[in-house]
Amino acid sequence: MGNVTVIGGQWGDEGKGKIVDWLASRADMVVRFQGGHNAGHTLVVGGEVYKLSLLPSGIVRGTPSIIGNGVVLDPWAFRDEVQRISAQGIAVTPDVLRLAETCPLILPIHRDLDALREDASGAGKIGTTRRGIGPAYEDKVGRRAIRVCDLAHLGELDPLLDRLCAHHDHLRAGFGEPPVDRARLKADLSEIADFVLPFARPVWKDLDEARAEGRRILFEGAQGVLLDVDHGTYPFVTSSNTVAGTTGSGSGTGPGAAGFVLGIVKAYTTRVGSGPFPTELHDEIGERIGERGREFGTVTGRRRRCGWFDSVLVRQAVAVSGITGVALTKLDVLDGLDTIRICTGYRIDGQAFDHLPPHAADQARVEPVYEDIEGWSESTAGARSWAELPAQAIKYIRRVEELIRCPVALVSTSPERDDTILVRDPFAG
Ligand code: GDP
Ligand code: IMO
Ligand code: MG
Repeated sequence: MGNVTVIGGQWGDEGKGKIVDWLASRADMVVRFQGGHNAGHTLVVGGEVYKLSLLPSGIVRGTPSIIGNGVVLDPWAFRDEVQRISAQGIAVTPDVLRLAETCPLILPIHRDLDALREDASGAGKIGTTRRGIGPAYEDKVGRRAIRVCDLAHLGELDPLLDRLCAHHDHLRAGFGEPPVDRARLKADLSEIADFVLPFARPVWKDLDEARAEGRRILFEGAQGVLLDVDHGTYPFVTSSNTVAGTTGSGSGTGPGAAGFVLGIVKAYTTRVGSGPFPTELHDEIGERIGERGREFGTVTGRRRRCGWFDSVLVRQAVAVSGITGVALTKLDVLDGLDTIRICTGYRIDGQAFDHLPPHAADQARVEPVYEDIEGWSESTAGARSWAELPAQAIKYIRRVEELIRCPVALVSTSPERDDTILVRDPFAG
């Protein structure tokens, strides 16, 4: 039995949280390896709703959970979430939750900069979650970040803050903002340190031990392949690599640790924020999908843009991320549609494309080529076995598999944990 890596196969919000929670019963450990609290993962267990942003989705089952070094951590958001989920009766203590000492911190100055840039960008804005994700990753690769381990060395913080703030002061001046209040920032960090430090550990050692003992690790990706900073719809992407290859660098495990790569894919497509979306619907069918699928963002409450399933994009995601099998989610949202469309190719200025070209101008001009499939009138909501699915729904799944060149390993039919059909156990490889 090997490891499993769960990643989003589209633009995020595919239902990763639900599937990770479901798989967590078979895992010994759940590990986040990129992103931050831009993620919003909703779990529903017996009617109780859990909304997670930073905490790995295994925490709800009590599966030992790790936040890896590839995650950017807002320590105040971390404290809020630990307290909120604890208040729902879930144990979120250093016994079950461990945090990499090397996580870079998201500070209030990162949130400020994210918002200042978005507000100044007008129609060209990315539509970020305004959580400071991009600016924090910039400071990480710029070698200016304050990290979790620095909270244990508050006496040595001044030169680090000088370096970081000198950079931010220039940027802030460009927006007409005053310099960073360093004394306040230092006081805020001193205040939060006591909460964060008990969770901090050399998690790479825990992972190495788990590997040596043959334990099963479930890696939990945030966002989706189309938001990957290298492979996504740049510049309308997030600032981390969301592909499965990031598990190693983002947690301190080798490249072979990813195991079975399970791509989570919605039976249609959604996107929140700006950027190209070839199959986007601006009609009543798009409205209907949005209503039935409750397509409102967990993090920002924004309405998600909805459209038909785009097999070109998912096939590309399968290829660039090395997806072994997919979990097809929200099939029930398509119940009752007379006709379901699948995008099978693109045309740009009359020329056929079997992939999304990289330039934003080309992406904006893409015209989808559709294939129509007869829908089904029966309900799939809550189905837990293949036998409960209508023949037309099975036909749809089979056609999706064919077009994306990847088998379906799981099907999800409602937000509830157990409304899930297992076709092929990812842990069995
Ligand atoms: P994530 O970011 O990938 O974890 O996805 P989100 O939690 O942001 O969004 C997925 C939403 O769809 C959540 O509200 C889930 O409760 C819900 N959901 C997940 N799977 C299904 C499903 O199969 N059917 C329906 N109707 N809802 C689902
Ligand atoms: P989960 O894990 C959907 C989008 C934002 C914006 C872009 C950049 O719940 O699937 P950022 O704040 O990261 O700089 O924003 O990425 N985005 C997401 N969209 N699901 C997410 O996470 C997202 N995280 C970021 O809307 O378009
Ligand atoms: Mg989400």
